[in-house]
Amino acid sequence: MLEFRKGDLYIENVKLSDIAKEYGTSTYVYSKQQIVNNFENYKKAMALRDGLICFACKTNSSGAILKILVSLGAGADTTSGGEIYRCLKAGFNPSKIVYAGVGKTAEEIEYALKSKIFMLNVESFEELDVIDKIAGKLKIKANIAFRINPYVNPDTHSYIVTGKKGTKFGIPYEDAVKAYLTAKKKKNISVVGIHSHIGSQILEVEPFVVAAKRIKKIVDKVERHGMRISYIDCGGGLGIKYEKGEKVPSPKRLMSEIFSVFDKDKKFIVEPGRSIIGDAGHLLAKVLYRKMSGGKSFLITDAGMNDLIRPTLYDAYHEIVPVKKTNAKKVRSDVVGPICESGDFMGKDRMLPIVEQGEYLLVTCAGAYGTAMSSEYNSRPSLAEVLVDGKQTKLIRKRASYKDLMLNEIL
Ligand code: LLP
Repeated sequence: MLEFRKGDLYIENVKLSDIAKEYGTSTYVYSKQQIVNNFENYKKAMALRDGLICFACKTNSSGAILKILVSLGAGADTTSGGEIYRCLKAGFNPSKIVYAGVGKTAEEIEYALKSKIFMLNVESFEELDVIDKIAGKLKIKANIAFRINPYVNPDTHSYIVTGKKGTKFGIPYEDAVKAYLTAKKKKNISVVGIHSHIGSQILEVEPFVVAAKRIKKIVDKVERHGMRISYIDCGGGLGIKYEKGEKVPSPKRLMSEIFSVFDKDKKFIVEPGRSIIGDAGHLLAKVLYRKMSGGKSFLITDAGMNDLIRPTLYDAYHEIVPVKKTNAKKVRSDVVGPICESGDFMGKDRMLPIVEQGEYLLVTCAGAYGTAMSSEYNSRPSLAEVLVDGKQTKLIRKRASYKDLMLNEIL
């Protein structure tokens, strides 16, 4: 949805420089159409089987974004009581919400059960005990799946690998059958599914298929014990193209290869996050100052690592584009923020055209884990978010004020 027209960068039918002038910077800007297109791709991919597309709302939990997903028929993958709250407020049907997380508190479990969400993805034997107890107290049966760690190590940043042996996630593979047999004996537990999520920003289908085959073995063994696993929740993790030349498998290919591993009567849940919202959102920033130092050009912008931490935390690459096309000479540049750390950068050693002070840059594909991971470090108020729909723009999050910074402080 990004396109240069007569030298100006547009998102859908709106000039990015106009958004910068109207709403200020730094600002996250989203394309509604891109979200719709990405979700439709998953719909097509899931058309062959029964199931749910549960948007992983940890990627972006802004209410207006969640509401778009509700309108498209999405469910939600949540990871905390706070996320369940946001999803309910946005209008998600609780029967389409799943909840995974290694450290659910008793309060969160009670809240999830009272909210009648579809299922809790259980990650330890002790958690199962707590869920059983709370469900008993509420006089209900809790729907659960076990999140199984399939011991698959996809090629991605080590911080976002979850399916590898030795991570904190899920029930260890060798204990999977025992977990189901334990659940069978619990009075207040109803087993509905099995879950695995191997990691994020994965650009190959193969590790998903290896994980699916390992999960299938568990399903077969458990079902031989007279239990029924109706839902296969295959997690999220499909990557997006951040850098030119990167190849990304389609949701259709991913899902059809996963489907082929399992029997026809199974229902499926998929939990995409990044591949729904990642390339639909971008961070718009202004060049405050320029300087040369150590033989390099520095573009100092008003977007910092508190607004987008991915480059700092994962050495992640986000393409950076000036919103005005120029034939100016390209120079090696670091695009940095105003935060007091050398790790505060959006991009390093980029060949960028010489831009003027006051011009705008777009840090692209920042819709996933951008605003969701932002903070107010250096007492920088949370930035604004704008949704673009065709020719229209809508402020979906106000820029916070200095007063907001101290909202919950007791002096
Ligand atoms: N399901 C579960 C259980 C997850 O833990 C995650 C992401 C997803 C689904 C969605 O994965 P996706 O489709 O977005 O890859 N902050 C990191 C990524 C952390 C991923 C956490 N789990 C980043 O900025 O790259």
